[in-house]
Amino acid sequence: MRQLIDCVPAYVRNFESYTPSRPDAVLMGQYGVSRLYRLNNNENALGPPPAAREAIAAYPSQQAAVYPSGDAYALRQALATRFGKDPDQFLVGNGSCEVIGSVIRAFCQQGDAIVTTDKTFAVYEWVAAFSGVEARLVPLRDYALDASAMLAAVTDATKVVFICNPNNPTGSWWKRGVLERFLEGLAGRAVVVLDEAYREFVDDAEFPDGMEVMERHPGVLVFRTFSKMYGLAGLRVGYLCGSREAVDIVRRTHIVYSVNGLGQIAATAALEQDAGHIAATRHMVAEAQTFLRDVFDALGLEHVSGAGNFIMARMPVSDTLLYRRLMRHGVMVRTMTGFRFPNWIRVTMAREEAMAAFAKALRQTLDKS
Ligand SMILES: Cc1ncc(COP(=O)(O)O)c(C=O)c1O
Repeated sequence: MRQLIDCVPAYVRNFESYTPSRPDAVLMGQYGVSRLYRLNNNENALGPPPAAREAIAAYPSQQAAVYPSGDAYALRQALATRFGKDPDQFLVGNGSCEVIGSVIRAFCQQGDAIVTTDKTFAVYEWVAAFSGVEARLVPLRDYALDASAMLAAVTDATKVVFICNPNNPTGSWWKRGVLERFLEGLAGRAVVVLDEAYREFVDDAEFPDGMEVMERHPGVLVFRTFSKMYGLAGLRVGYLCGSREAVDIVRRTHIVYSVNGLGQIAATAALEQDAGHIAATRHMVAEAQTFLRDVFDALGLEHVSGAGNFIMARMPVSDTLLYRRLMRHGVMVRTMTGFRFPNWIRVTMAREEAMAAFAKALRQTLDKS
């Protein structure tokens, strides 16, 4: 009989699966703490906007027995209204992570390549790797995506280029001119994914609006998510927006019914009167950024942040060791060695109480090392 492993393609066999963190209750027991500040996933500490909270509370439990809309019909209508587009220009996924897979399946076959960077959201690289698609990783320059080097990395084999704007984890972002010159240079040779997961955190006139850019460039797909600004990470809703032709192609490789009904309802409601929620979140993030920059400066630690609700800092000790020590104080951060930033940590910017708890735990931890 064949061994199970013999049935596995080499690119799957060689792929190391990602281990997510354990549930809070398990971690609290393990580290002996009664409170855990999760600062590892760039979630919104303010939670979802009021209308989404109400929609979640009003969800009739009987509705759980019924399949949701298979293509997020009402949510796509709401997105179309919000962005002045056709509902068929949107494809909704179980988080934007799912949409990454759909795009790679739609445009790439084994032996093709994607272009991304060495220090960015890693899921693009991972999905390519376990799909038999080569991920060309262009090094960052000064913590930012290097437009000319990314352009130079594009070959005939390249089918998709992933641009994380703003970039997770460095917070850097391309201004409008940089993106326009990049798209001109690329001249439609590959599909471009503009991942704008943190777009709503940016309040700067020079930030390019993907929703406008994609109208002029039919090969551009914009990704957005309800996990970050909209505080719905637990319900898993993300989406892409593109030309009708591009969306029609990606739809073929996208699993229908993958987005749960409660998520669809909550995301639709989240778009209603969201200005107050966005302003409050931006305010919280700005305060936390100032606070954390001061904390790292006072400790003499190099740090990097920009747009988005996260900040990275280089630690004088092993990041995994530091992680465990911070966990004993009930503070969870993201270790970054696995993301090619050895001994850096990434911290989500959250409420004052969580930021103070992190700062106190960090000072105590470093004092002892
Ligand atoms: C840049 C970027 N894109 C996409 C995602 C995935 O978001 P979702 O929760 O919609 O799958 C994340 C989540 O951390 C992210 O940082």
